[in-house]
Amino acid sequence: MKSYNIAVIAGDGTGPEVIREAIKVLDAAGPKFRIKFNFTQYDLGGERYLRTKEVLPDSVIGELRKFPAILLGAIGHPGVKPGILEKGILLRLRFELEQYINLRPVKLYDERFCPLKGKKPEDIDFVVVRENNEGLYTGTGGFVFKGTPNEIAIQESVNTHRGVARCLRFAFELAQKRRGGKPWHGLKPEDIAAGKKSQLTLCGKTNVLTYAFDLWERVFHAIGDKDFKTVKLDYVHVDATTMWFVKNPEWFDVIVTDNLFGDIITDLGAMVQGGMGIAAGGNINPEGTSMFEPIGGSAPKYTGKGVINPLAAICAGQMMLDFLGETEAAQAIEAAVVKIAREKIKNLAAGKMGYTTAQVGDLVAAAL
Ligand code: IPM
Ligand code: MN
Repeated sequence: MKSYNIAVIAGDGTGPEVIREAIKVLDAAGPKFRIKFNFTQYDLGGERYLRTKEVLPDSVIGELRKFPAILLGAIGHPGVKPGILEKGILLRLRFELEQYINLRPVKLYDERFCPLKGKKPEDIDFVVVRENNEGLYTGTGGFVFKGTPNEIAIQESVNTHRGVARCLRFAFELAQKRRGGKPWHGLKPEDIAAGKKSQLTLCGKTNVLTYAFDLWERVFHAIGDKDFKTVKLDYVHVDATTMWFVKNPEWFDVIVTDNLFGDIITDLGAMVQGGMGIAAGGNINPEGTSMFEPIGGSAPKYTGKGVINPLAAICAGQMMLDFLGETEAAQAIEAAVVKIAREKIKNLAAGKMGYTTAQVGDLVAAAL
């Protein structure tokens, strides 16, 4: 029996409701796969901030470092000015725990959930590897002449060779493992059949951001040409990426991009896979503490009503197991989610599932 110590930050809004279901499903998987979880809850988020003015004490970061993984519900509170909790908790954890990868799978589990006409599960199955520690998220920049008509606001994108290279290397390794063999941008399926390569698409803006993405492109080719000969290198501008996500999502296998572009395209990705009710992500430090979350946010409108979809949080738990090396248990949870989504759930949106939040958790746990 293997046991894992997991930190839980249920957080704000609907966070606690969906995390409860994720834990229910993980606990249900435990005995079957001979694993045990010791969950430690951390009270962080808007309520604690309003009560104590504390956002994220340094001592808590020190404690969190001792866990292999954190399960996070949601951060964001209508009573707190935007930015305080997001930057003070979510981004600070991503940065201080050096979770330099934000991994966001985009997978369609049933044709009914896709807003795109004629797209089937086999058409929508790709992964976005978002750089998670640099870019426009570092807070570099500042104001000059603030509050005057001459005001200047500068916000700079930070791209270090080290940061770009480790992100690209992670993406190449993932692409090599997946070996999806999908038709890549501009080439025909027959070509792939002949070469049997998987594909990594760099999503950037080399035509305008001629410093940042020049670095990305050079390192992309340097690593790919040298160490990943079984991976086909592909490039798409970020604006075109949004177009192809809608028109030809089947072209993509693994996509790698910077922090802000990754933030934007993964919301679009979440929609093509059926919305925030199903979209999960992992903030990954392969050598340290990683953090898994449903990407939908705190949804104040639905808080406490028992109508929010817990499948995204359950999928975050599944990603966590996969990261911990519990591949079989992770696959079993995914299979249970797919079964329940296909056979039972009317609609993935909050309030339209045909079941309560807890009932969906029960159904997935039972399907295991
Ligand atoms: C996300 C969110 C965060 C981000 C916000 C809440 C800071 O949108 O996880 O995608 O921009 O990264
Ligand atoms: Mn986002």
